Amino acid sequence: MLAPMRGATAVALTELEREIDAPGGGLDRLRLVRIPFVPEVRLHLAEDAIVWWARMEAHAGHALPPPYWASVWAGGQALARHLLDHPDLAAGRRVLDLAAGSGLVAIAAALAGAERVVANDIDPYAVAAVTVNARANRVTVAATGGDLLDSDPAGVDLLVAGDVLYDEAMAARVLPFLRRAAATGADVLVGDPGRGHLPPDVLAAVASYPVPTTEPAVDSPVRRVQVLRPR
Ligand SMILES: C[S@@+](CC[C@H](N)C(=O)[O-])C[C@H]1O[C@@H](n2cnc3c(N)ncnc32)[C@H](O)[C@@H]1O
Repeated sequence: MLAPMRGATAVALTELEREIDAPGGGLDRLRLVRIPFVPEVRLHLAEDAIVWWARMEAHAGHALPPPYWASVWAGGQALARHLLDHPDLAAGRRVLDLAAGSGLVAIAAALAGAERVVANDIDPYAVAAVTVNARANRVTVAATGGDLLDSDPAGVDLLVAGDVLYDEAMAARVLPFLRRAAATGADVLVGDPGRGHLPPDVLAAVASYPVPTTEPAVDSPVRRVQVLRPR
C-alpha cells in the first residue's frame, strides 16, 4: 500500500541533510525550533518558507511543490497537542498520519507511545522532512510517499490528519478516505482551523484549542482549532 523511499525522496533527503549540516544565515535557511504550542517537539522549519522555496527552485532549475512541510500549521499543532495530552489515543496502536507535512502529528503519536507510526505525504520533501524531524526527536516514524487517497486504508488503528481540509479539491478526496478508514474500525481524528471546506454534519468536534497564529494572512494572535472525528 505504501511506496518506499526512493528517487525524488532520496534526493530531497540528501538536500535537507546538507542544509541542516551547513545552515546559512539568511531568511532562506532551515532552523531546528521548538514548537511553542507543542514544546515536546522540535522541527526543522524554514525561517521564511517562501524565501527557502524560491532559492530551492532556482537551485533545482524547475518548479517544486510549495514547502508546506517547512512551516507549522494550526490544525497539526492542535492535533499533536491533543495526542500528547491524551496519550491513550495513540499508545500501543498503529497510527497513520495522512498528509503529514513536517511530521509534527506523527512525532506526537510516537512520543505518546504508538506501536508503529507511518507518515504519508505526496511531496518528496515532506517525506524527507519527516525523516529528519523524527531523527531530531529521537522517535521512529516510517515516512512514505505516494497518494493513498483513492485506496482503502488497512492495518491502521488510528488515522490522524492535520490541516488537510485546506481547499475544496483536497477536502473532496480526503473526507471519503476518512469515512472509509472509520468504516474499517479505525479511530479517525482531524485537526482543522475552519478553512471553510468542511461540509456541515460530517465531522463532530471532540476538543478545541487556542493555537498561536503563525500564518501571516491571519491577523489574530490566536486561532481556535477543533479536533474532530467522523459522526
Ligand atoms: C497544510 S499541510 C499540513 C501538514 C501537516 N499535516 C500539519 O498539520 O502540519 C498539507 C499537506 O498535505 C499534503 N498533501 C496534499 N495532497 C496530498 C495527498 N493526496 N496525499 C498525501 N498528502 C497530501 C501536502 O504535501 C502538505 O504537506
